[in-house]
Amino acid sequence: MSQINLLNLVCEKVKSLKAYQVETLEDGVKLHANENPYPPSAEFIKIALERFEKLDLNRYPDPDCKQLKEAISTRIGVPTNQLVIGNGSDELIQNLMQVFCDEGDTVAFPDPTFAMYAITAKSMGLKVKTFPLNKNWDFEAKPLIEKLTASHARIVFISYPNNPTGNCFSRTEIQKLIENFEGIVVLDEAYYDFSGLSFLDQMEKHNNLVVLRSLSKIGLAGLRVGYGIFPSIIADEINKVRLPYNSNSVSQIIAAELLNNFDAVQKQINSIKEERTRLMSGLEGINSITAFPSDANFILFQASENGENVFKNLMKNGILIRNLGGHPMLKNCLRVTIGTKAENDQFLDRLRQAVH
Ligand SMILES: Cc1ncc(COP(=O)(O)O)c(C=O)c1O
Repeated sequence: MSQINLLNLVCEKVKSLKAYQVETLEDGVKLHANENPYPPSAEFIKIALERFEKLDLNRYPDPDCKQLKEAISTRIGVPTNQLVIGNGSDELIQNLMQVFCDEGDTVAFPDPTFAMYAITAKSMGLKVKTFPLNKNWDFEAKPLIEKLTASHARIVFISYPNNPTGNCFSRTEIQKLIENFEGIVVLDEAYYDFSGLSFLDQMEKHNNLVVLRSLSKIGLAGLRVGYGIFPSIIADEINKVRLPYNSNSVSQIIAAELLNNFDAVQKQINSIKEERTRLMSGLEGINSITAFPSDANFILFQASENGENVFKNLMKNGILIRNLGGHPMLKNCLRVTIGTKAENDQFLDRLRQAVH
């Protein structure tokens, strides 16, 4: 029998990390993970099952994800040699750091933003340079570029819209950043379908620009499908570090099917956007709540006091949202994902009770 001190073997950069935390709720209303509240239609499931039956599950998936890339290419008009599929766009964030950073190099991103940029960077022994957003949850490019240059940052990640604040940063400032930063600018457009705003059309002009997208927010969170649009030279480098068969065959065929039959998804997106307007007015109608404008499928809001209690109270009443109050710039802040009409009504109802 061997009993060694396992924790002594874990490297320092990992020991100091905290795992990405997601609360769970067995039953109840889940408005914490920015998922699409609508399941795929019965018709879609039927087609997906037919496709599933034809799969050779004893064989490895297509390592090049040809069908899926073709579906993406048709949908967004980008050649397939500029596309890489990830097991979620999370994976591509990691791949980008692998390609552009040696241990000790710096990556940058705004604060607050998506937690995985920092977790992934730190797990790889990279330095993190954050730049605090101003009171409008925005930034100015000029001082930022100076900081990025001084710290020799190699990549800057811009969540557009930004998770968790929900807004899209000023376009002109991002434009200046792309034009003047001598490194890679990653436009993480995981929530693009809800903002309709993109930098994809700038890729022809600027070879330091990368765009990431995700299918997690529009109905396939359970299948883990993200994709990146890269200059082809970068796509080739990403393919060197990407794990073989990172995208499984089920995810590939179902994602392709979803993209080839986008009308139904588009209807869901439209409903979510309508509900966003309604949920926003509902939140604005509560005195002790300040809600921040959103271009995404979630809304950040601040309770006038004790957000933690509000969070717990909602949880006790079967509603799970995201408590962000642990972040110094997000005191008493909570984030709610746009749900179905019934879920949003239930949430608003319980929230009113929780703050009174
Ligand atoms: C800004 C942002 N980027 C990327 C991701 C990861 O998405 P995926 O599910 O495709 O890994 C998320 C998920 O919440 C996100 O908020």
